[in-house]
Amino acid sequence: MKKYIYSDKSAVAEAFSEYLVSKIRSTDGPIHIALSGGSTPKVVFDFLAENFSNMDWSTVRLYWGDERCVPPDDEESNYRMTRLHLLDHIGIPDSHVFRIKGENEPEREAEAYAQLLREQLPVVNGVPQFDLVILGMGDDGHTASIFPHNIALWDSDRLCEVATHPDSSQQRVTITGEVINHAKTVAFLVTGQSKQEKVTIVLNDDVESKSYPAGLVNPASGNLLWFLDEDAAGT
Ligand code: 6PG
Repeated sequence: MKKYIYSDKSAVAEAFSEYLVSKIRSTDGPIHIALSGGSTPKVVFDFLAENFSNMDWSTVRLYWGDERCVPPDDEESNYRMTRLHLLDHIGIPDSHVFRIKGENEPEREAEAYAQLLREQLPVVNGVPQFDLVILGMGDDGHTASIFPHNIALWDSDRLCEVATHPDSSQQRVTITGEVINHAKTVAFLVTGQSKQEKVTIVLNDDVESKSYPAGLVNPASGNLLWFLDEDAAGT
């Protein structure tokens, strides 16, 4: 595990963007990346749109780790946020963008997206493999859309599951632990003081950390990166 700490959210966004761009440029052939919703990716997307709109994005294949069960033009849609902040500004063909269809019946979409992952990603030891999964972490220690009250979904034998937000009861489609921990690299983007308590617990990697979905992220590849700001890291 590697932990990188920056002064604030924009510095995290800049550093992560540089990391991402160099990873894209140094990968031969297609690179399969799962995006996250949340406030830090939004700043990353703005930085990429402003500074790297002219680079060659044609090798990039974009997916989502989770999506809210709303139509793609809804303000809550992770796809919509990504479109407005990144996709509309860069030269990436629509055929390289694989969104979770939040407007579909959730159980059916979880199955359909699992099938899409099996078809689009290299399948290694029977499981589709992302080159990079980008994750956020909620104040409650959730990641993707696996929340502490439904932590059993992490160990699902399905590639995608339907989850329910604990407060709003909004349904979400999310990838599960098997897919996340099978990725070649997993990168957390976590900023803000409200994350500090759970960041400390999760990074301790002890028994308590395992009661939070973010604490179960442990890719078999060993390539786990944490991009934090000082507020989240508590430094
Ligand atoms: C979502 C997410 C979710 C998010 C965290 C952190 O769609 O809500 O993918 O897992 O990454 O809640 O979000 P913030 O960065 O906004 O705190």
